[in-house]
Amino acid sequence: MSRPITIRQIAKKANVSIGTVSHVINETANVREKLRIRVLDAIRSLGYQPSQLARGLRRNQTSMLVMMIPDVTNPFFPAVIRGVEDVAFQYKYRLVLCNSDNDHRKESLYLNEMQSYRPAGWLVIPSVDSDMATHFSAKTSGPPVVCLDRQAQGWNGDVVLVANEAGAYSATRHLLRMGHRQLAVITGPLHLENAVERLNGFKRALSEANVPIDANYIQEGRFERSSGHVAAKRLLCMLPRPTAIFACNDLMALGALLAAREVGLHCPDEISIVGFDNLDFAEFTAPPLTTVHQPGYQLGATAARLLADRIVGSREAPQRIVLPTELRMRNSVAPPSG
Ligand code: RIB
Repeated sequence: MSRPITIRQIAKKANVSIGTVSHVINETANVREKLRIRVLDAIRSLGYQPSQLARGLRRNQTSMLVMMIPDVTNPFFPAVIRGVEDVAFQYKYRLVLCNSDNDHRKESLYLNEMQSYRPAGWLVIPSVDSDMATHFSAKTSGPPVVCLDRQAQGWNGDVVLVANEAGAYSATRHLLRMGHRQLAVITGPLHLENAVERLNGFKRALSEANVPIDANYIQEGRFERSSGHVAAKRLLCMLPRPTAIFACNDLMALGALLAAREVGLHCPDEISIVGFDNLDFAEFTAPPLTTVHQPGYQLGATAARLLADRIVGSREAPQRIVLPTELRMRNSVAPPSG
């Protein structure tokens, strides 16, 4: 393997000083055009590749953005990441992904380790019980941070969310308008702010309709399909059985559809099911899933643009941006049978 090309070799070939080569590579000063062309020709002919890491250490900042996601297997997050990456690339930043597995200890390990790579900024979708607020508040200086999708406890910096409470409210109102009065909910992990907000939307709709909330009909899930399946099986064995289930994300709604089939209940004739996310598969489930659309791509792109503004020096007060959600009616809801 050939030795890396040095700035000294480029200077010799271009017959200029090392300082001139450094100014051309790092764009740190104006260089006469004919010298600049000689340096660029020497770089091309020698096949020189600047070390981004060395440049980052000199500047104490790279062009790297670190994005923390809580569950790399959840199909909700690729659209969010795509939104971030499109904007990052446009601003010449390069994205590094860290998967916390919804484990705050793994998240903290990444937050500490990745700091040494001098990222230009952070985008964090917090894990359950995230310590991100404590971690970043302890640093008076350091690259900007944008929290997205879930409001981390104690975080008062920039945050980009969706209208979780309003989305859950509209889903529950739809079930009420269809005549349901025995409604159950499968929540996300209630350590997460967005899970609490969706439960609150469910409760507000029932309260406004003077429909009593049966505590047994509130089952906590983990935003994973298996937890939705287990919770739905438990709900569908209760007497009286709920006639409708609001699952606070589409993966748990998928689990509920499977549970209904396993216990021999037809959706929607015998059990109505609503989800949250509007993932691509929602159109293709049997029956197609009524769900709350949340703009994953826009969530990521908005957070990345806010971060890019901070990196170049925006000193506005911390922003709290909430993107709209929208109920997408399909075929998994019908009036209660009998
Ligand atoms: O499906 C995963 C859930 O976790 C989504 O609803 C999204 O809001 C994320 O927080």
